Amino acid sequence: MLVTGGAGFIGSNLVRFLRRERPDWTVVNLDKLTYAGNAESLSDLREDPKHVFVHGDIAEAKLIDRVLREHAVEAVLNLAAESHVDRSILGPAIFVETNIAGTQVLLDCARQAGVKRFVQVSTDEVYGSLGATGQFTESSPLRPSSPYSASKAAADLLVLAYGHTFAMDVIVTRCSNNYGPYQFPEKLIPLMIANALEGKKLPVYGDGRQVRDWIHVEDHCRALLLALEKGRSGEVYNVGSDNEWPNLQIVTRLLQVLGKGRELIEHVKDRPGHDRRYAIDASKARSELGWTPRIGFAEGLQATIDWYLQNRGWWERVRTGEYRSYYERNYGSR
Ligand code: NAD
Ligand code: TYD
Repeated sequence: MLVTGGAGFIGSNLVRFLRRERPDWTVVNLDKLTYAGNAESLSDLREDPKHVFVHGDIAEAKLIDRVLREHAVEAVLNLAAESHVDRSILGPAIFVETNIAGTQVLLDCARQAGVKRFVQVSTDEVYGSLGATGQFTESSPLRPSSPYSASKAAADLLVLAYGHTFAMDVIVTRCSNNYGPYQFPEKLIPLMIANALEGKKLPVYGDGRQVRDWIHVEDHCRALLLALEKGRSGEVYNVGSDNEWPNLQIVTRLLQVLGKGRELIEHVKDRPGHDRRYAIDASKARSELGWTPRIGFAEGLQATIDWYLQNRGWWERVRTGEYRSYYERNYGSR
């Protein structure tokens, strides 16, 4: 198994999940360790002989080719990406390089090495924004509105085109907003928890009434494993757990649980092109893959808050930038 982006939020949870659920599998984890990649998120897997970490870029064909052949990789789960909408507004170029061109290189290499299945981990954001009602289905039109979601939509289309043109076995999954441990504190939930704990303001974009459909990262990981094992080639599967919340309600709830006052909330200028509402219809994944989310929001959010309370060092090192030297400090002498 090759997992790309395995030092990121979902990737590190996925690698741990796969090692637990499929102990016979060797998981090769290839990650460029961009600002979002954190080798410290994998420190408990350091002694695991069936977890092989490779520091590298999905856009480097020679390296990918070598890794696929050296480890006789049977399947690829592509999570490597630039993932933050706000960064894509500040600088779209790297989103094109990694999310589109990188995926195309990975597809070529996988095809040439005879990889049996390629799973592209995508997002509901490729469908654009919803009004007050309705949900995205797999046949909803692609109407991405940010450079991030446009780059993910382009990658999805390339993956499906490789399936169609070259008879490659490919699957695309499109999941809603994830939350859980090891999420980089630039995304809404961990940012708000960390700011509240440090007594800083909580920056809510615009009126804060934008709606996101939240899923615990472990439920997403379970869906990815099922898609890999049971999905039909060439198909797209939406993943989401029917859990819509306006941003302001999430922020208020986090403050309540942390025992902090609402005066920390600060309404700031809205994100340009901000999508108003996402909601996912995951009935295809439920019926075809037998997937159901297991983690309720109250339970999952509490566990996530507890994790950030208990792992303050992890996110503090991320916020100070200290985590960036962790790889050298930890692996440099090995
Ligand atoms: P993340 O930003 O936390 O992690 C991305 C990882 O990819 C990092 O470890 C980074 O170092 C690595 N990476 C970046 N460029 C790379 C490259 N060129 N080569 C190799 N590695 C590279 O992101 P995440 O939230 O864990 O998201 C993972 C994937 O899931 C992304 O493809 C994202 O689009 C998708 N997704 C995320 C969500 C969400 O809510 N977070 C929802 C649906 C889909
Ligand atoms: P984010 O976690 O960036 O995910 P995405 O934009 O991919 O859905 O943001 C979730 C929601 O929270 C989104 O509507 C933007 C909003 N938001 C804020 O209001 N303030 C913030 O500081 C951040 C990072 C996000």
